[in-house]
Amino acid sequence: MAADLKSLLILVTFFMFLDQFALPQEQNQFIFNGFKGANLHLNGIAKILPNGLLELTNTSNIQVGRAFFPFPLKFNKSASNSSDSLSFSTHFVFAMVPELANPSGHGIAFTISPTMELAGAVASQYFGLFNSSSNGLSSNHVFAIELDTIQSPEFEDMQGSHVGIDVNNLRSLKSAPATYFTEGITKSLDFLSGSPMQLWIDYDEVEKLLNLTLAPVGSNKPTQPLLSTSIDLSTVLLDSMYVGFSSSTGELASDHYILGWSFSKIGKAQSLDYSKLPSLPPRRKPKSKEDLIIILPSVAVIAMLVAISGGAYVIRRKKYEEIREDWEKEYGPQRFSYKDLYKATKGFKEKELLGSGGFGSVYRGVLPSSNEHIAVKKISHNSKQGMKQFVSEIVSMGRLRHRNLVQLLGYCRRKGELLLVYDYMPNGSLEKFLFSNSKPNLSWVQRFRILKDVASALLYLHEEWEQLVLHRDVKASNILLDANFNGRLGDFGLAKLYEHGTNPQTTCVVGTLGYIAPELARTGKATTSTDVFAFGTFMLEIACGRKPLELQLDPEGTILADWVLQLWKAGAILDASDHRLEGEYVAEEMELVLRLGLLCTNPMASNRPSMRQLVQYLDGNVTLPEIRLEGARIEMMSIEHNFNNSVSANSFSSSILSTGR
Ligand SMILES: *[C@@H]1O[C@H](CO)[C@@H](O)[C@H](O)[C@H]1NC(C)=O
Ligand SMILES: *[C@@H]1O[C@H](CO)[C@@H](O)[C@H](O)[C@H]1NC(C)=O
Ligand SMILES: *[C@@H]1O[C@H](CO)[C@@H](O)[C@H](O)[C@H]1NC(C)=O
Ligand SMILES: *[C@@H]1O[C@H](CO)[C@@H](O)[C@H](O)[C@H]1NC(C)=O
Ligand SMILES: *[C@@H]1O[C@H](CO)[C@@H](O)[C@H](O)[C@H]1NC(C)=O
Repeated sequence: MAADLKSLLILVTFFMFLDQFALPQEQNQFIFNGFKGANLHLNGIAKILPNGLLELTNTSNIQVGRAFFPFPLKFNKSASNSSDSLSFSTHFVFAMVPELANPSGHGIAFTISPTMELAGAVASQYFGLFNSSSNGLSSNHVFAIELDTIQSPEFEDMQGSHVGIDVNNLRSLKSAPATYFTEGITKSLDFLSGSPMQLWIDYDEVEKLLNLTLAPVGSNKPTQPLLSTSIDLSTVLLDSMYVGFSSSTGELASDHYILGWSFSKIGKAQSLDYSKLPSLPPRRKPKSKEDLIIILPSVAVIAMLVAISGGAYVIRRKKYEEIREDWEKEYGPQRFSYKDLYKATKGFKEKELLGSGGFGSVYRGVLPSSNEHIAVKKISHNSKQGMKQFVSEIVSMGRLRHRNLVQLLGYCRRKGELLLVYDYMPNGSLEKFLFSNSKPNLSWVQRFRILKDVASALLYLHEEWEQLVLHRDVKASNILLDANFNGRLGDFGLAKLYEHGTNPQTTCVVGTLGYIAPELARTGKATTSTDVFAFGTFMLEIACGRKPLELQLDPEGTILADWVLQLWKAGAILDASDHRLEGEYVAEEMELVLRLGLLCTNPMASNRPSMRQLVQYLDGNVTLPEIRLEGARIEMMSIEHNFNNSVSANSFSSSILSTGR
């Protein structure tokens, strides 16, 4: 019997590599040490590279890539033959290589699904598995293990790098930070390190026990699983299911790779042969990799020296090592020592992590000297180019003073890393209140006040300080709430760091998809008007309780501003309001905010108001002048045009504020 199995396996493996041959349907195990010539069902942007590396996604934004074993497998809950039971075992090696520095997204999901197409599923935080309406339905019959790199508030993710067990739902049944056990201790892994890692998934139908075990490549399978969970898959898995991977990118993107994969329905999956796995393409930024390689051995050497000489001094100096250059002398007062920040954040402990956003990870801390509560933002930054200018800008921004700005207290610099120190905001990001069920719904009174707060902060940046400051990344996740729920604008000017040429290969527009004005996308030039555009999107987001881009909605609903515009044209603008505010909001204020939102997101910059005008409208101090919505949005124009050829841009320009509908 054992010999039979072995020959079957050899036969199967042999055919796998020869490809092309249609295999018998009773496949119970397979192994791919690399995917050269492998017969997999690929869809989305997935491809097999010439060296046999399976690339699920590249760094194109908002894409899905999938790869499935092309034949269905039997998962029969009442099977007498154990190979048809619900038990399975799999082992694979994966790597996620971020486009820019951390953070990046979104991740890879090992997937067991009734279909290989997963119609209607979308990218970003949905991993190409579901969309917002299908997420959570028991009719999905999808089982997935997500390797997620982003903390998505709507799914109550615990942190950045984490593993989750998903049954029909991206709100994981169970999840755990990316760690593994070795020699009696727990070590963290960073999925976005770009290094290959391996995962084992073992399910036993009789025990109804699912084990997930993670480790870096090269280590043996740890004896203790990362997660061991009781779960009954009999209602989830259908008789015939496909196994494979689904992966997605979002506004931030990584290359997602599978290097090797072994799967079995009869006993433990075979171990992969690491020596046969394809290698990853060279890193885009070999420089940072080099730095890492140089640092690691030297730390080891020093550790050895210390062990020999018994001196702890050197190692401590290394641990707290900073970069200080002569030109920084004048910034003395704004310069924090790394040692203080390290102590304040308890060594940048995971527990102190407040979140990971567009430009880095943020940690909570208490300064040992003053007991002051702070938030420390850690940004990977390898370019020396522009650093002097950027630090001088940062320091000058430290002089900005406004009750609706998150105060920047100072900075610190280390190799490859910039740390910015801010006032701590106890209520965190507004985005969580808008889109996560774990936080209470904000009332209309609170929302309206936050809008005014942010408007007045932007006015200060644009017009009231000694020099013009563009924010460049106004959005809900950059608005923080203080202890009294006042809105405070954070991260001002930070986007500039990335314009000073971190990565010459990406001539990317800085900002966030959905908030980027059309002329900014075209010319790359940020102006006060592009900030106003982003603020307009933000106003709509607050009023509608919806994100600026929802890919899973039908084309007319995708872009929030277009959707609101359509409702306005249909004379039903209030239908756009967040249904959670039903019966609570002041209709005049809601309508004002929605209309101002449309006005600010006008594709023509010259038709947008200034921040000063906006503040006046929001305060109700000024009667609204006749403001025209010339030509409306471009998308609308083409729709109108098809509808009625005689329509010209001018003939449907309407007064959005004063006359309304
Ligand atoms: C990613 O792959 C797709 C499909 O092969 C291709 O069109 C696109 O240009 C690639 N993007 C990058 C950033 O390489
Ligand atoms: C599942 O197993 C039972 C018992 O062996 C058998 O009667 C049934 O036909 C199987 N179902 C499928 C779809 O193979
Ligand atoms: C179980 O299935 C395998 C192939 O799928 C077959 O070779 C074997 O004879 C079956 N055993 C029994 C007891 O039905
Ligand atoms: C969501 O996905 C389901 C399939 O699971 C599909 O039928 C539906 O059309 C999708 N919804 C949208 C809005 O795309
Ligand atoms: C899961 O892990 C537990 C604890 O290590 C072990 O007792 C059990 O046999 C494992 N089950 C599977 C299916 O690997």
